[in-house]
Amino acid sequence: MADKSMEGLNSFTAREENVVDASKKVRIGFIGTGGIANSHMKAYLGRPDVEIVAGCDIVPGKAAKFFASYELEGVKTDYRDHEEMLADKSLNLDAVSICTYNRQHANCAIAAMRAGLHVLLEKPFTVTLDEAIEVMKVEKETGRILSIGFQPRFDPNMQMIKKICESGELGRIYYIQTGGGRRRGIPAKSHKDTFIRDDTAGIGALGDIGCYSIDMIMNAIGHPKPLTATGMISDRFGKDPNYSGYNPAYAEEFAEKFGVDDFAGGFIRLEGDIILDFRISWAMNMDSPGDTIILGTEGGLRIPATECWNGTVGGEMTIYKELEGVPTELKVPIISGKCDRVGLKVGSFVEAVKNGGPAPVPTSQIIYNQAIIDGLARSAAIGREVEIEIPEI
Ligand SMILES: NC(=O)c1ccc[n+]([C@@H]2O[C@H](COP(=O)([O-])OP(=O)(O)OC[C@H]3O[C@@H](n4cnc5c(N)ncnc54)[C@H](O)[C@@H]3O)[C@@H](O)[C@H]2O)c1
Repeated sequence: MADKSMEGLNSFTAREENVVDASKKVRIGFIGTGGIANSHMKAYLGRPDVEIVAGCDIVPGKAAKFFASYELEGVKTDYRDHEEMLADKSLNLDAVSICTYNRQHANCAIAAMRAGLHVLLEKPFTVTLDEAIEVMKVEKETGRILSIGFQPRFDPNMQMIKKICESGELGRIYYIQTGGGRRRGIPAKSHKDTFIRDDTAGIGALGDIGCYSIDMIMNAIGHPKPLTATGMISDRFGKDPNYSGYNPAYAEEFAEKFGVDDFAGGFIRLEGDIILDFRISWAMNMDSPGDTIILGTEGGLRIPATECWNGTVGGEMTIYKELEGVPTELKVPIISGKCDRVGLKVGSFVEAVKNGGPAPVPTSQIIYNQAIIDGLARSAAIGREVEIEIPEI
């Protein structure tokens, strides 16, 4: 599959050199003004070619408070939900950032594209594969730009993993172990419960941080098609009122509401005879589920895990090769320095809107990520391996 993502990246370099063309302003709206909307907002505010025009949230007054906290004047927020905002043609919006919880990703993306808008949609793409397919049908029908919010794609260390895999140094890749996560890190803080409820999140660690691990390797190896999945999921910590990661004031309530997974694992067969061994955790009795390892016929790559999956590489990587018959190790140092991943994610989307595409993180790639998540969840529900089928869109 052709990798269009780097084109968006290259065009974004222009902004780094301060040559943003601000003669046309991209008119942006927000759907959902919770936690992640703040990082989108900060990135947009750094661009002279963006005008924040409107925003909505289904919690009354929340959008107005959000924009007031940035001292933005004239932003229209008097909408009950995304449908009302999208119906307001006086806004002349070009694009929206969809920052809702997972269960509201598909319907908001579909509604926004049908309203003629380009979309930057937060990760995970959707909750189910069927939803993702519906979204992609509308993307095709409307010809809108739809980019999915995977900011680790813009990290130079992540890009180095892709370069190593593409260089051929590893030979033919046949086995990958990946995943990551936290020992005590269910994202239910103070009173916020949107990550742990089935009606808002729909999927737990599997979708929330699992999608990043899957993207790290799928993007590196060129998005081979997933064929089958055998998965397991667990909610043993989330449903326990004595789970030590909960704020004691909310522990009973959170345990009662917990309706997603806090750990997931599985085994995925990918096209090209590649096996993906995967595990991801919001909570477990272990410090780390292990490094990512990529095994190829000519070499192997070890990517150290991070303590909490945060979209970066955990330390110096190692390539294992044989040199003149001698087992040899090559260290790949971390590329350090400040990298504004979210700024690049948002900025590359704005550039794509201005240039007529392509989407920096396209659905044609992320559909495989969603298919893996969906396959693992379906397999876990029935206790056996499932086929993964992705229709032509
Ligand atoms: N890329 C990242 O680094 C990153 C980080 C955190 C969260 N996320 C993703 O962002 C999404 C949101 O996370 P969050 O922490 O901001 O959640 P949140 O619960 O704080 O915010 C979501 C907001 O969306 C609103 N909302 C829901 N449906 C709506 C609709 N139809 N119209 C208008 N508003 C609606 C909710 O009322 C809420 O205020 C999740 O999918 C999450 O996975 C991404």
